[in-house]
Amino acid sequence: MGVSLLSSPEFLRLFLLSLITLCLIPQHVFASITRHYKFDIKQQNVTRLCHTKSIVTVNGQFPGPQIVAREGDRVLIKVVNHVQNNISIHWHGIRQLRSGWADGPAYVTQCPIQSGNSYVYNFTITGQRGTLFWHAHISWLRSTVYGPLIILPKRGVPYPFAKPYKEVPIIFGEWWNADPEAVISQALQTGGGPNVSDAYTFNGLPGPLYNCSAKDAFKLKVRSGKTYLLRLINAALNDELFFSIANHTLKVVEADAIYVKPFDTDTVLIAPGQTTNVLLKTKPHFPSATFFMTARPYVTGLGTFDNSTVAGILEYESTSKALHTTLPMKKLPLFKPILPALNDTSFATKFSNKLRSLANAQFPANVPQKVDRHFFFTIGLGTNPCSSNNQTCQGPNGTMFAASVNNVSFAMPTTALLQAHFSGQSNGVYSPDFPSSPIIPFNYTGTPPNDTMVGNGTKLMVLPYNTSVELVMQDTSILGAESHPLHLHGFNFFVVGQGFGNFDRNKDPANFNLVDPVERNTVGVPSGGWVAIRFVADNPGVWFMHCHLEIHTSWGLKMAWLVLDGKLPNQRLFLFSFITLCLIPQHALAGITRHYKFEIKLQNVTRLCHTKSIITVNGQFPGPRIIAREGDQLLIKVVNHVQNNISIHW
Ligand code: C2O
Repeated sequence: MGVSLLSSPEFLRLFLLSLITLCLIPQHVFASITRHYKFDIKQQNVTRLCHTKSIVTVNGQFPGPQIVAREGDRVLIKVVNHVQNNISIHWHGIRQLRSGWADGPAYVTQCPIQSGNSYVYNFTITGQRGTLFWHAHISWLRSTVYGPLIILPKRGVPYPFAKPYKEVPIIFGEWWNADPEAVISQALQTGGGPNVSDAYTFNGLPGPLYNCSAKDAFKLKVRSGKTYLLRLINAALNDELFFSIANHTLKVVEADAIYVKPFDTDTVLIAPGQTTNVLLKTKPHFPSATFFMTARPYVTGLGTFDNSTVAGILEYESTSKALHTTLPMKKLPLFKPILPALNDTSFATKFSNKLRSLANAQFPANVPQKVDRHFFFTIGLGTNPCSSNNQTCQGPNGTMFAASVNNVSFAMPTTALLQAHFSGQSNGVYSPDFPSSPIIPFNYTGTPPNDTMVGNGTKLMVLPYNTSVELVMQDTSILGAESHPLHLHGFNFFVVGQGFGNFDRNKDPANFNLVDPVERNTVGVPSGGWVAIRFVADNPGVWFMHCHLEIHTSWGLKMAWLVLDGKLPNQRLFLFSFITLCLIPQHALAGITRHYKFEIKLQNVTRLCHTKSIITVNGQFPGPRIIAREGDQLLIKVVNHVQNNISIHW
């Protein structure tokens, strides 16, 4: 039918045209490439707020270098640790299909890289494009060790919006005049809340609203009448942030590296761990003004927080020379945006309700329609008894602050969970019994219970390959209701529902959006409310899930999923050859390295009155004895002086 509507010359034209386009794009440009990066972890002196200090950086850069790849590419990053701290790097939002070894959270998928050692992260970016970021994933080192991770679409594949004139990453961070490692270690010792940061930053720069920082301002220089793609990344440790540019509207087009239905907004709300791409259309003509872009926190908890504001400057290039000479930029009027109130939860709700998947033919929303396993996790704060016997602790009523999921405050193991699982040595490392719902149900958002103590443990939730999961995360009012940005490693999930108060299993699912819910890797559990997500466990491995407010993670608001291998070969975790490295428990570092040298050489030996030349180690027969202690590292250099090929098995 359709074909007969075309006259034959037109059909021929279309046919030729399609042939031509096919031929003009050589097949090899679709081919994926391998991109190599080297990350040297080193100390670097950096000055902010008139305060100079030595910080841990990647390649001496702060923020760290940008990683750019295309969908389908393989990325190899060699990380070499030249500092005293242990380190590991997480590629936040990368799905790591079957390559969980490269995910990065310390003691979850790998042992941290020790001083003087290195580790190669090796992964392929499959079915993803957009803005993500990378950051250190141990202690609070991500305060300075972070940078953008940008995935371009495959060559020749356009964005689902007009090609922007320019693309600019803006990564939000937090700056401490103190050493963040000291801040968190002190907080964990005293049991109290941590000291807060001294500034927020755009691309590492605090901007003119802070002491000493007029020159340390991020400037976005633009031309009039153009569209800019701003890749917003929140790499702050402990704060969700409102962001706005004076007198300009932003069009949100992507969240967590997934396209969304475009919508306009004056302000973007972005939690730590989240990314948001927005289109900024500049004024059609030189506006004879400059504009601030600012960010400050959205805060729901009861603790102290950094309530300062970071400002950057949107500056138009003037086209007329005359304007430049008569009106220097400094004299131009400056406009400042108005941000929502610090506790504007109603804005937060409206904003998150606007985020919808594109859900079209090219970018479908494959929302799981049937669910194999339902989970209900409470998310919130709590306490541990004071561990110091000569002092009272600084947490609530002399206790220590803690945080938990289903009242389990996650205890970090000393060996990596993934290796323990993979090598079948999970005994004593973790138990596979994470509760699927609270052991003792209570009125989660009502008057908090008197007993605020949490349980502690290293518990995992085990899922068979391809389980379709629905997880409801319920905030609790224990020590104050609070918004918690929960991040799941290894997956994107669909946010099918959210609400305030206690989740009602009989009523709320009827309102779930199973058509075009937003798909992301980090979602805010609303303060005093709940959020429901769905995902399919199609990625074997151990996957960390935690609050991306770093202090809550430190207090134990974290758990892990263990997704088992499937039956088919392509449903299994890749083999990994560095297992032995990580099975050496950290405390066995007291172990030493023993060096041996094996010279493979011929030696005359006589037995039964018969002399012959045999192959030996060091001329000895039998060979030398190797002695070591458990926990030691053995280095045996084998040098082959004979004609035969050789290898030694231990
Ligand atoms: Cu961006 Cu486990 O974190």
